[in-house]
This record gives sequence, structure tokens and C-alpha cells, in this order.
Amino acid sequence: MINVLFATSEAHPLIKTGGLADVSGSLPAALLAAGHDVRLVLPAYPQAITGASPLTQLATLTLTGCNDPVTILEGHLPGSNVTVYLIDAPDYFRREGGPYSQPDGNDWPDNADRFACFCRAVTSIALNQAGLDWAVDIVHCNDWQTGLIPAMLVDSRQRPASVFTIHNLAYQGLFDQSQFHNLDLPASWWSMHQMEFHGQFSFVKGGLVNADWLTTVSPTYAREICTPQYGYGLEGLLSHRSGELTGILNGIDTDIWNPEKDPLIAKNYSAKTLERKRQNKAALQRTMGLAVEANTPLLGHVGRLVEQKGVDLILDLLPALARRGAQLAIIGTGDRHLESALRKASRHLPEQIGVALRYDESLSHLLEAGSDIFLMPSRFEPCGLNQLYSLRYGTPPVVRHTGGLADSIIAATPATMARKTANGFVFNDTTSSSLLDAIDDALTVYHDPDNWRQIIQTGMTTDHSWNKSATHYISVYEKAIDRNDNKLNL
Ligand code: ADP
Ligand code: GLC
Repeated sequence: MINVLFATSEAHPLIKTGGLADVSGSLPAALLAAGHDVRLVLPAYPQAITGASPLTQLATLTLTGCNDPVTILEGHLPGSNVTVYLIDAPDYFRREGGPYSQPDGNDWPDNADRFACFCRAVTSIALNQAGLDWAVDIVHCNDWQTGLIPAMLVDSRQRPASVFTIHNLAYQGLFDQSQFHNLDLPASWWSMHQMEFHGQFSFVKGGLVNADWLTTVSPTYAREICTPQYGYGLEGLLSHRSGELTGILNGIDTDIWNPEKDPLIAKNYSAKTLERKRQNKAALQRTMGLAVEANTPLLGHVGRLVEQKGVDLILDLLPALARRGAQLAIIGTGDRHLESALRKASRHLPEQIGVALRYDESLSHLLEAGSDIFLMPSRFEPCGLNQLYSLRYGTPPVVRHTGGLADSIIAATPATMARKTANGFVFNDTTSSSLLDAIDDALTVYHDPDNWRQIIQTGMTTDHSWNKSATHYISVYEKAIDRNDNKLNL
């Protein structure tokens, strides 16, 4: 049995801005089910305090660099047996707003202080110095908010091994040199061999340089980030460490994302009762203000409205989609320009284009169930979860060939159709005309009921649970432990 401290800045259902929360809310439970002692640690945001209650106060720590004493609270992750430690630093985390940004959408100005304090508290638990009497074997860190932990561990002789998972290299936690000085961290960290990055202080480099093992969330993204196109200047460092960098495709929580039992959709269905999916389509059309038409193809999209996701490519196609008589339903928040372009389009063609410019977990389930086709034209996509949810909900995805999309979607071609392995539609170039070609392919098959049913069945009956990937993480933990032991024995 491996004792794993899983450090993250968000976990569903406690707090969520994107896929990191889905992974942090489901991978620990899968590892626990495989017989390991996995405990989550995250900041005590107000939503997390409410969600993880009842809470027990375990210890109060005075940590260098943190404004006030920090309390460790113990609760549990709803819907699971996973223990959750909440790092209660009220000055930093008990705020109304998002985990990283203020209610107006701008980043919290003291994010460096907030997450440095979080990292110090996690390090103290990891080193068994927080009075919890629990010997950690592995600290599993996720994204830049946890990047300093592997660096804080390296000088201790009694340290656990560390694994750092990259969920999205576009977010690196970069701060000014003056902020670095305020954090009261070792001066030696201001070096290009450590966390200095082109004149800024980089949290993510703390993990990339110091963790015993690196992972990212798909094999293709693991290769992509070693190239200039996707590496954001970190490709040299990542290539250097490519022997200790493993791509493991995310799984999904098959209890939460299960069309047979999902309480958030209009009618439950399975691969055997697909005709019931139509009632979800009608409910989605009604909810989004679209014309309720059973035979009109309905294309859906859910996601953060940022450049990464390629929603601008969809926007360019609105006239072409209207000419094809297709409907479009989009749920998302983010970039103001994209939001206003979507709002305008839906005002112009209300029966064909429906938008919900908000974060709506429950509507996202109905959209997965009610759409005919799911669009994911991402410029890059480390893994992507919505294409996996789409497969399970019998809504074939149209995706760009990148990252986890390339690793999970098998394009429909005569050969893959014959082998019954096709589960979606794939395009290569980041252009709206390539996206349109793939949508046209999807619409052609959509109008061919036998082939359409086959693509749906393939997606719905493939195993996308954590089973396989959790086993990969366990073997990564073992490698990280070996590597750490070797370093300690030098
Ligand atoms: P990313 O982590 O880059 O945002 P993923 O596809 O891995 O992309 O995960 C996104 C998660 O966030 C999915 O669970 C998706 O349904 C959810 N999501 C994103 N935007 C919204 C929204 N506006 N409303 C509801 N859920 C959303
Ligand atoms: C990131 C990525 C997304 C991935 C998610 C969970 O936010 O953008 O592709 O699925 O993390 O790993």
C-alpha cells in the first residue's frame, strides 16, 4: 500500500473551474479503491469548507512566509471515502470569488503569496511535521499552484517522493522578481536552473525541475510539450527530462457521468435504449430557446471561452451551419469578445443558436445528453474530458487532432467503420474550413442511421473509467519512489 498525499487547488464537487477539478475529484477515489491510502489536500475556500463538512481541527502551524497561523482541517470528499485536508489560511482563502480570480475576473493580486503558503503547509504534512502522524510515501502535485512543493522537499533527508502532473502548460504561475523577494524563499531559487524563467519567478518550474517523476494527462501531449509549438519555452527542460515524463490519459467518473443514472438529464438511457436520448434533445432545445425539432442536427459545446478551445473557429462557421439547417448550443464563460459574439449570434438566429454564458454544471449534463454531435476544435488539449463524456452519452465528438483528443477519438473512415472502432470525427488544421469538413463528414454519417448507431455504440461501450489509468499512476509512483531512494542513498 502506498500513502499518497494528493495536492490540488480544486476538486469536484468542492470547487471547480475546469478539468483539474474533475480529475482531483475522481482519481484519488480510484486509487483508494485499488488499495492505497490517498488523501486530498486543498486550500480551505468557503465552498470547500461547506462541502467537506463536518470538519475536525487537526493542527495549527506557524509557517514562514504565511501571514497568520495556518490550521489543518479534516473532512471528506462528498460521494467518496476520500479524506480531505483543508489548509485554512483565512486571510488568503476565505474570500468570495474564484480560487484564482476576483469576482470581476482579474487574478487575485496576491496569488503568489496564497499558493506559496499552501505549498508550505502541504510540505509540512508531507514531511510528517504537521502533527498528523501519517508517513507519506508520495506527494502527487498538480499544476503550478503546487509547483513549489517538490522544490521545498529536496533538501530534507526524510522526504517522500514527488510526482508532478502537468494539466495545462499554458498556465505557469509567473510572477515578478519583487514578488519572489517578498515570498522569503531561498535566494538560490532565483536561477535559470531552478525557478527563474526569463526574468520572472515560475511556480511550474519548481515542479518540472525538482519532482522525482513528471506526468501529463495524455501520451500525445507528453510528446507535444517537448516541442516549441506546445512547450512555451519549457520544451528544452521537458525534453531533458523526457525519460521521467509519462503521459497518462485521464479517466472519468463513471458514476457522475452515467446516462443510465444521471439525475441531471431529462430521461435516462443506455446504449440499448438510445431512442430515449431524443427526450433529452427536446429538453435541451427548449431550455436553450431553440426550435424543438427532432430531425434537426444539434451541435453542442461546453467549455471555458478561451483561445485554447477554438470557439472562434465555430463562430466563423455560423452562416455555413445555418445554411446546413443545423442548430448550435453552447455553454461557456470567459473571454468577453467571445461572449458578446455568441450573444449577438443567438439574438440574430434564436431558433438555431442557443447560448448559456454562465457556469452551469447541471445544464452541461443535459447538453451532453441532448446534443447529436459535440464540437471540440481545441488548438491544444492536454487531455480534455468533454469528448470522453460525449462518448459515454452517445454524442459523437468532432475534434482537432491534438493531445488527449488524438489519443481518445478514432476518426470515422471506411476502414475504422468496417472494424467498428470509429467513435468520432477528426481534423488537423486549426482552420474553420477544416472544422467544417469534419462537421460535414459527421452530418453525412448522421443521416445514415445504421452507421451513426454503430459510432454511438462504439463510444458508449468503451471503458473510459479510471481503472486502467489508475494502474499507470501506481507504476509511476513506484518509479518515483525508486528514484527518490536512489537520490537519498547517494
Ligand atoms: P479544461 O480543464 O481545459 O477546462 P476539460 O475538458 O478537461 O477542459 O474540462 C472542463 C470541465 O469543466 C468539464 O467538466 C466541463 O464540463 C466543465 N465546464 C467548463 N465550462 C463549463 C461551464 N460553463 N458550465 C459547466 N461546466 C463547464
Ligand atoms: C487542463 C486541460 C484539459 C485536461 C484537464 C484535466 O485544464 O486543459 O485538457 O483535461 O486539465 O487534466
